[in-house]
Amino acid sequence: MLWLGTTLLLAGTAIGKIRDVVLFGDSFTDQSRQHSIANGTYPGKNYQEIYPPADTAADGGIQWPWYLGVNGNFKIWNYAVGGAVCSERLTPLYGMPDVSEGQMAWFIEDHVVQQRLTLDAEQLVVVIYVGTNDIGIKSFITGDQAANVTLGDVAECQLNTIWRMRKLGARKFVLNSMIPLHLTRLYANSSAGTIYWPETHDGALWHRNAYEYVRSVNGMLRDGVARLNREFAGDGKVVLFDTYGLFGEMYGHPWRYLNGTIAPNATGHCHQCPDANDWRQCGVGDCSAEERDSYLWWDELHPSEQAGRVLAVAIERLLLSW
Ligand SMILES: *[C@@H]1O[C@H](CO)[C@@H](O)[C@H](O)[C@H]1NC(C)=O
Ligand SMILES: *[C@@H]1O[C@H](CO)[C@@H](O)[C@H](O)[C@H]1NC(C)=O
Ligand SMILES: *[C@@H]1O[C@H](CO)[C@@H](O)[C@H](O)[C@H]1NC(C)=O
Ligand SMILES: *[C@@H]1O[C@H](CO)[C@@H](O)[C@H](O)[C@H]1NC(C)=O
Ligand SMILES: *[C@@H]1O[C@H](CO)[C@@H](O)[C@H](O)[C@H]1NC(C)=O
Repeated sequence: MLWLGTTLLLAGTAIGKIRDVVLFGDSFTDQSRQHSIANGTYPGKNYQEIYPPADTAADGGIQWPWYLGVNGNFKIWNYAVGGAVCSERLTPLYGMPDVSEGQMAWFIEDHVVQQRLTLDAEQLVVVIYVGTNDIGIKSFITGDQAANVTLGDVAECQLNTIWRMRKLGARKFVLNSMIPLHLTRLYANSSAGTIYWPETHDGALWHRNAYEYVRSVNGMLRDGVARLNREFAGDGKVVLFDTYGLFGEMYGHPWRYLNGTIAPNATGHCHQCPDANDWRQCGVGDCSAEERDSYLWWDELHPSEQAGRVLAVAIERLLLSW
């Protein structure tokens, strides 16, 4: 409710200066970089591949930045990679190009020449949307984080990336808060395995911790964004986008947002893996193409394409106000 009111208010003062949108993140944003790496083709300068039709993103279709670009007529520079964390040094996971180093290196390759930004900073916004892998399985959720790493370090990494992007010349930032991961099947209050973690586990503990870790990191991001805005002293601006609230809103009022041909479904997911131990069976029992937009979740962890369209509209409204 509050969320809708805020964005509508911002939309009312629209000026529309933004032209370029740079995105850093993980599979919630990646459009094909992870698949390209898996295929043995490391994305090079000005890489722009968008799938489908040849492939699909982790939402089962087209990822939200593409919709953002089309809706708002923005040029999208999507550096996100599935499986990425903010820093592989802090929370080593799959070795994917991370937000703070590998993805930033791509940005520099494309847009920084002799330490000068080649994009117009007035018309550029940088979006950071990461954290799910940092706190998830094989990390904090399963107690596999390094002994000297805290949730605070994970939040600081995101804030620090904004600082470093500002040093490179960027001035406008959107930091997406983490979504309510406890509402996904992977972190549901169930001990049965999923494709992402086939073994039986302490589902009640995972569920409780997912809630706590996400809300803790989000609280630190909120305080950190206020601190950055004080430090920037008007020369640069960061907005914390309430992705957590947006997903809570879609979960609580699914009929307002989910529009496939069956009843809105915010608890299940379209994409099925009937045997958690055999990924080759994934796809058996999926919902139909017409039903897909009725789901908030595509699979055990990832939001659906329709959830992405809703996110794209919300971010577009925010950017049009800048
Ligand atoms: C990866 O390879 C598959 C099979 O050749 C192809 O269909 C797909 O488009 C490729 N994906 C990327 C991102 O290169
Ligand atoms: C944690 O300890 C490891 C190994 O001793 C060290 O390499 C790393 O820099 C430490 N990380 C932090 C955040 O202090
Ligand atoms: C999780 O499930 C257990 C057993 O079904 C139940 O006792 C507990 O209240 C549930 N916890 C939450 C947070 O729903
Ligand atoms: C649901 O709404 C989106 C716009 O948010 C639209 O692009 C999509 O085609 C709709 N889905 C269906 C199945 O009608
Ligand atoms: C939601 O979808 C799941 C499939 O993942 C299904 O099992 C469940 O019954 C559906 N719930 C409703 C309320 O339709």
